[in-house]
Amino acid sequence: MHTTAHSHPLSYTDWTLTETQFDPDQLHARETVFTIGNGYLGTRGSFEEGYPRALPATFIHGAYDDVPIVYTELANCPDWLPLVVIVNGDRFRLDQGECLSYERQLDLRRGILSRSVRWRSPSGKTLDLHFERFASLADEHVLGLRCQITPVDFSGLVEVQASINGYAENQGFNHWEGLDQGKTNRGVWLQVRTRSSRIELAMASGMKISGAETSLQVTSAPGYPTLTAAFWAAPDQTVTVENIVTVFTSREGVTPVEAAQAKLAELPTYTALRQAHEQAWSQAWQKSDIVIEGDSRAQLAVRYNLFQLLISAPRHDDRVSVPAKTLSGFGYRGHIFWDTEIFILPFFTFTRPALARNLLTYRYHTLSGARRKASHAGYRGAMYAWESANTGDEVTPRWSLPHDPYAEDVRIWCSDREIHISADVAYAAWYYWYMTGDDLWMRDYGAEIILDTAIFWGSRVEWNTKQERYEIRSVIGADEYHEYVNNNAFTNRMVQWHLEKAISLYDWLDSSFPDRFAELKQKLKLTSERRSRWQDIVTNLWIPYDPATGLIEQFEGFFELEDINLQDYEPRIRSMQAILGIESANKRQVLKQPDVLMLFYLMRQSQEFPYSLAALQQNWDYYAPRTDITYGSSLGPAIHAILAADLGKSSEAYKHFIQAAMVDLEDTRGHAADGSHGASAGGIWPAVILGCGGVKLYRKWPRGQSTAAFRVETLV
Ligand code: BGC
Repeated sequence: MHTTAHSHPLSYTDWTLTETQFDPDQLHARETVFTIGNGYLGTRGSFEEGYPRALPATFIHGAYDDVPIVYTELANCPDWLPLVVIVNGDRFRLDQGECLSYERQLDLRRGILSRSVRWRSPSGKTLDLHFERFASLADEHVLGLRCQITPVDFSGLVEVQASINGYAENQGFNHWEGLDQGKTNRGVWLQVRTRSSRIELAMASGMKISGAETSLQVTSAPGYPTLTAAFWAAPDQTVTVENIVTVFTSREGVTPVEAAQAKLAELPTYTALRQAHEQAWSQAWQKSDIVIEGDSRAQLAVRYNLFQLLISAPRHDDRVSVPAKTLSGFGYRGHIFWDTEIFILPFFTFTRPALARNLLTYRYHTLSGARRKASHAGYRGAMYAWESANTGDEVTPRWSLPHDPYAEDVRIWCSDREIHISADVAYAAWYYWYMTGDDLWMRDYGAEIILDTAIFWGSRVEWNTKQERYEIRSVIGADEYHEYVNNNAFTNRMVQWHLEKAISLYDWLDSSFPDRFAELKQKLKLTSERRSRWQDIVTNLWIPYDPATGLIEQFEGFFELEDINLQDYEPRIRSMQAILGIESANKRQVLKQPDVLMLFYLMRQSQEFPYSLAALQQNWDYYAPRTDITYGSSLGPAIHAILAADLGKSSEAYKHFIQAAMVDLEDTRGHAADGSHGASAGGIWPAVILGCGGVKLYRKWPRGQSTAAFRVETLV
């Protein structure tokens, strides 16, 4: 459903986004927009005091738990935000009393979310509240929350209660069982465990009050440890409540309760913690910032999207990866897609290679799940899951669950057919290596990924005896509007490319690291026959392509489908699939997202087949007008921006760049409530640097010498 997102737009400076009016219709979308995080966890921008129908959530990387139908999901962790302020018996909330002024701001440079409210209680007492919170980038186990309270027109008793809510839910389902809770001399703590995966989590919280005489009391309920303080407040005198929370899970190899308590006990003041956090952000921006002059909206939007990536990427964990909706919402249940390798990774490869390595190594650790998927489907090697979580086993739901009880269930075919993911992962691993020269990573991790997925392709392709060519049948390409196709050009060329690279990797490993080569040969049953077969597939895999025109057919028979003029459906606010229905979209020449053009994007880096400007022009002219770029997949606009820039269509490039950049800030697709669009955010970096900026990067060093140095060439 499309929300009324534009009714109260955010205002922007180069580093801040500000909401000047609270609109309950935008509650969930703005909870997403104001998410904070530090690569360990993400916390949605819900209000500390609560609001009816709010969806507060804190997601920690890797904290998955079982759930029916969708197999596993990131469990919404205990909520560390609840901070209740009671004035003469009235509880501060925006749905009660009167909100006299309101401003919420996310400061991207400092990683701080703040909110100033002037509120008149139902009994007529006016006070100013200033909230501030951060998830420390300096120490990922530390969270800070501060509330400053200043009476405007009264003297009276104010009470504050800061809690950890152990009853956080995922759409009505509580993943946690309470184990224990208690108090220390600095505050309270809670210990919980996921029901099936048995991940233990502990949070400890300490509160400090300055500006008033008071003492803290523990007023916990079961599963809801709470610290309470009451004090006398007077006009224009500010009382400051500082709450520091520590969090650990058993995934970090510690006893969470002890770790959370010990960390809380050793922490310096709130101000010192915030300073360290700001310092860490300043360093992060030094490595990753993009400066745009003369366009504040674009400047803020670029930084906002980079911020989303920076708060989502694990710093100290290579067994987790960035979910499609990052750590900012319930959409896609925290599952990991090709979004990470193909869209999100380049930013990290070029600006923070150590983080790119963490994300890729996740695919190494999940190889066993990919092997189980291949063997279950009757293939060899490793076949990555379309949707992946902690083990790498396939977790794409087979059926979608409609909200409407009378609607038909829809079969989701991606796990069976959207197999290009295995080549996408190999592509990302190869480019990470190509750009950084990290030979040791390739030797220890990347090679096994690329070679075992190549083995899968060897068992997946089919020989067509009549036509004497290899084919890949029954797939879904990048464009998900066509759910059962043969010889999708994108998939086939990616597989061909993958096998080309697997062959050169095979040879490189053999000559550079013979011991590792011998080990992998044995483990993966790599033989020279297998290598020859890969070569044969590379030579004979069919790609539907007309050499005379350079036009690629998206899949066998695509050009025979009924054509469509998307202009005929304007104006619209729904996807073409929603308008036409699944079956009918399947039968038309309408694309959810770039498919042939996606291939051009991926091959443009090295200018390999089919990339050439002339061929791009041909295929752009055919496919761009048939792509549902505004309401199809959010993955599309950044790619179109880059290709339009290649073709010298700068205003079209800018239009698509803005579409991608604003998808959450302006909720242009109406789904921001589900979480931020990670792939769209990821596409911003290449769209600006490689697309609009026209920067080309080449590796400069000879193979085997691991110094990352790029030759940068600017085309425009
Ligand atoms: C897109 C996929 C994408 C997924 C997760 C789908 O709507 O078509 O390409 O991987 O969303 O973002």
